Amino acid sequence: MKRIFSGIQPTGDIHLGNYVGAIRNWVYLTGEYDCIFCVVDYHAITVEYPIEEMRRRTLDAALILLACGLSPENANIFVQSHVREHTELAWIFDTVTPIGEVERMTQFKDKAKQHRSNINMGLMSYPVLQAADILLYKAGFVPVGEDQVQHIELSREIARKFNGRFKPIFPEPQEILSMAPKILGVDGQSKMSKTLNNYIGILEEEGEIWEKLRNAVTDVNRVRRNDPGDPAVCNIYTIHRAFSDNNMLLEIDKGCKTAGIGCIDCKKMLFGNLKNELTPIREKALALGKDMGYIEDVLAKGAAACGAIAKTTMDEVRETLGLYIP
Ligand code: TYM
Repeated sequence: MKRIFSGIQPTGDIHLGNYVGAIRNWVYLTGEYDCIFCVVDYHAITVEYPIEEMRRRTLDAALILLACGLSPENANIFVQSHVREHTELAWIFDTVTPIGEVERMTQFKDKAKQHRSNINMGLMSYPVLQAADILLYKAGFVPVGEDQVQHIELSREIARKFNGRFKPIFPEPQEILSMAPKILGVDGQSKMSKTLNNYIGILEEEGEIWEKLRNAVTDVNRVRRNDPGDPAVCNIYTIHRAFSDNNMLLEIDKGCKTAGIGCIDCKKMLFGNLKNELTPIREKALALGKDMGYIEDVLAKGAAACGAIAKTTMDEVRETLGLYIP
């Protein structure tokens, strides 16, 4: 079976962008692939974070993955720092990665702007660690949102560089995009993200979700209810495409263009579908939250299985590098 690897940072709230851009797709793919999903805590420490919350956030991220439909039966789920080989391989990859390649990464440039007082080495070599995450398991496919595509391209480049210099032992991983690879935030301008606080969390209460949706920016040229709108430039329509069926999409497309459906009605229709999909997830998360011991067991099982694969790869890597192995 072909192998998939993907990861998510334990940054607190997991939002609609993470869900439709990645997690929901991961669940779809579990039947076809050998799946490994990782809560990437070492990635999350490249920026300032509340130390006392990290443990909880990590467990919560795993809990959400399970609430969304992943399980130890269909995937290995684990925490990055529990498999030591990730950072070990990242160091080796650092030695084949040209600095120019990491400096030109859009995410590095954005984060360097956001965190001017803490532009650390980890922030820069972040995509090298990401390449190590994937290649440690020789995963050929990586389901991610659009913002990660550049990092996957770099992973291919790193695999090529390593294979060319030493021996061809790594695949060149390909990204798999979901049907909604880029969800904008409620500001209708930037990518939905925790940092920009323009997100709708997947575990938020219905009332909170509606408040955010009600105020969300739509087609800015549609000022009055009677103005026709353009679904192609409306972020609410993009979210509809991820949550609504074809009949509803056609109805909205037509209604928006002819001013037959107002923005609030359109949002109410979306809200109905969001509720249908997210309420069972929230309920499952609440139930899972009563037994954190189970989450810990799932993560321990995932780390044991992944740790064994990681060890085999690192033994091969050390040998390939020509190191002295006693
Ligand atoms: P992270 O934690 O920022 O996001 C997790 C996943 O959610 C996707 N995503 C989105 N998709 C659509 N619209 C959005 N607004 C949106 N926001 C986030 C991301 O593309 C991602 O797939 N560097 C990664 C984590 C990582 C990783 C890996 C991924 C570490 N190692 C190895 C794949 C393979 C990250 O920060 O994702």
